[in-house]
Amino acid sequence: MPTNKIVIIGLGLIGSSLAAALKKRGDEREFIGVVRRQTVVDTALTMGVVDRAVLSLADIAGELGEGDIVFISVPTLSVEKVLAQAKKLLDPAVTITDGASVKGSVVDSVKKIYGHIPPQFVPGHPIAGSEKSGVTAANADLYINHRVILTPLVETGAAHLQSIIKLWQAAEAEVLTMSVEEHDTVLAATSHLPHAIAYSLVDTLANDSENKNIFRYAAGGFRDFTRIASSDPRMWHDIMLANKASVLGAIDLFQSNLSKMRSAIDNDDSDHLLNVFTRAKSARDHFASLISQQSYTQSMSSSTEKTMRYIVSPGGQLSGQFRVPGDKSMSHRSIMLGSIANGVTEVEGFLEGEDALATLQAFRDMGVTIEGPDNGHVRIHGVGLHGLKAPAGELYVGNAGTAMRLLAGLMAGQDFDVTLTGDRSLTKRPMNRVANPLREMSITVDTAENGRPPMIIKGGKPQAIHYDMPMASAQVKSCVLLAGLYAQGTTSVVEPAPTRDHTERMLRGFGYEVKTDGAHVSLQGGGELNAVAIDVPADISSAAFFMVAASIAPGSDITLQHVGINPTRDGIISILRLMGADITLSNQREVGGEPVADIRVKYAPLNGIDIPEEFVPLAIDEFPVLFVAASCAQGKTVLTGAEELRVKESDRIQVMADGLQTLGIDAQPTPDGMVIVGGQLGEGAVETHDDHRIAMSFTVAALRSSGPIVVNNCAHVATSFPGFVQLAQQTGIRIEEQVV
Ligand code: S3P
Repeated sequence: MPTNKIVIIGLGLIGSSLAAALKKRGDEREFIGVVRRQTVVDTALTMGVVDRAVLSLADIAGELGEGDIVFISVPTLSVEKVLAQAKKLLDPAVTITDGASVKGSVVDSVKKIYGHIPPQFVPGHPIAGSEKSGVTAANADLYINHRVILTPLVETGAAHLQSIIKLWQAAEAEVLTMSVEEHDTVLAATSHLPHAIAYSLVDTLANDSENKNIFRYAAGGFRDFTRIASSDPRMWHDIMLANKASVLGAIDLFQSNLSKMRSAIDNDDSDHLLNVFTRAKSARDHFASLISQQSYTQSMSSSTEKTMRYIVSPGGQLSGQFRVPGDKSMSHRSIMLGSIANGVTEVEGFLEGEDALATLQAFRDMGVTIEGPDNGHVRIHGVGLHGLKAPAGELYVGNAGTAMRLLAGLMAGQDFDVTLTGDRSLTKRPMNRVANPLREMSITVDTAENGRPPMIIKGGKPQAIHYDMPMASAQVKSCVLLAGLYAQGTTSVVEPAPTRDHTERMLRGFGYEVKTDGAHVSLQGGGELNAVAIDVPADISSAAFFMVAASIAPGSDITLQHVGINPTRDGIISILRLMGADITLSNQREVGGEPVADIRVKYAPLNGIDIPEEFVPLAIDEFPVLFVAASCAQGKTVLTGAEELRVKESDRIQVMADGLQTLGIDAQPTPDGMVIVGGQLGEGAVETHDDHRIAMSFTVAALRSSGPIVVNNCAHVATSFPGFVQLAQQTGIRIEEQVV
């Protein structure tokens, strides 16, 4: 059988790099270049980029048939001419594709030449390039991990499409498909506009400036910003004209925003400037991490997209004095309340984890200027109770249940509608617990089936209500109270058991009166919040992993600094002490209305206990790691009254029972808790079900296991505990992180 052929029309950077890439990876087809100049023929052959090179398609067209590919990689406006030859010369079985940066004009040319779209034609665009051009720039690795967008049409034949997908994959590119229109709009904004701006800027400085030596003073910023102005002028000339409508739209939008910036500078409007700069910085940081495939901490694409696992070797002991990251609950609330306060709120100790960053981004999306975070420091330029603006799209809160439920309450009082969405795990969690009281407050709330996200809140004027909460949930309580800020009269809630009271405390810190009378909490709508300084202490829920770790690992002695020990959150301390743990608090003080202490934990043998139900809401997030403590305790531990654990980031009763059983522990789940008989933890692989606290709990378990524990799917740890792996390693846990 004769070898198949790949014909590349135009041996510029794009075409010659594809040939070089495939040849380097052992493609045995014959590569033939079709070029206009003899010098290029000679260079291509000398370099070995192709096996043969000719000056006209007519020279080789007769050799081509089914299974052969013709790749048109000439400047965009020359594609039509090549297509006219292709129609005349090529068998309909030959697959034809192109690499032009504009797809609408190419498809129009195909229709014009052929009178229809022939199935053999697969429009494509490799998103790769360099400011270098020509055959001498051929780079066999140009396409590695770069995207190639194919824009197949209904008429495109499936076999032709497949062969082009395989072609690019063989060059190690990532192949995507989208419509012609979407391609051209997206590329106009992200590629064609930046090139137009870069060319124009360099030209302006080079020719219009009075100082002709101006480039002598230009530094790295200028170089980075204008690199693309040294790309191939003919190619970009063609692109601008071929994608005229989309490029003009992008230029108009940019021009209008640039003139807004001009007048902001003219008028000393720092709010506008800071707003644009902070929003842009966050978008650019997000982009930088997107391209380096990092998680949501730096990017708005959730960490769910990345698969990561921990391999934890058995044994070890903990030592040292250290501070875990800031409290998640308080970090969320600091952004929310700071945004609707009057004046500038300064936050220290802010948790730079994905959940709290999602809240921060949501408020930026609603027009609030937020500087930072920078080493835990955030500066929020509050817009007042009625100053939020409608976001341009949905508010995406990632994995953060607290963000979604508290935001729902705040959104109830706005004069715009909002759609709240989240990641795969959050989309499974119940939202009717907040939607129902909001509906009682006359707010229209729509959810997906069974009260799951997305949640659409139609902003309005909530009516004050008294709400008897059916479950002990600080999120529900906070949601109703936040909606109550916008209601006329008194909004009140009664909780069945005490839950974290950070919303009440922080509101008071902002000068807003909140009354608490036993289980009854109330506030009057229509007041104002005034900016304050907030010091977020270390999160006791993150400290809990190390408290259990030190308690179960013989020889351990650690001190956790500056931990929030709010009495509605300190159940972990009470429960561990009941089990026999050696925990001492020192340096107790109050910081910004919240009690804080240093917590010293030394190893001590633990005993199984019946966990008193009144502690359950006070340690609600700590049960996964408490189950690990129970597995290492002497005797039986019984938890009841904790059915809420089934609707956390995962069903924490089932998921922990499954994992502990895998490790050989007698852990029996019950509808509202678990019965665990302490024993020897073995080795094995456990699943986290996208739950950060499950991942960290099983990490701690390895301190007492007989062999390694593999914890699968750990990327969500970044939602609450950035730097967990490094801190665990530093303090004595033998953990390795693997991206899989
Ligand atoms: C939180 C309340 C708790 C807790 C969550 C944070 C808060 O949820 O589990 O991690 O910040 O209000 P519930 O209100 O659902 O118990």
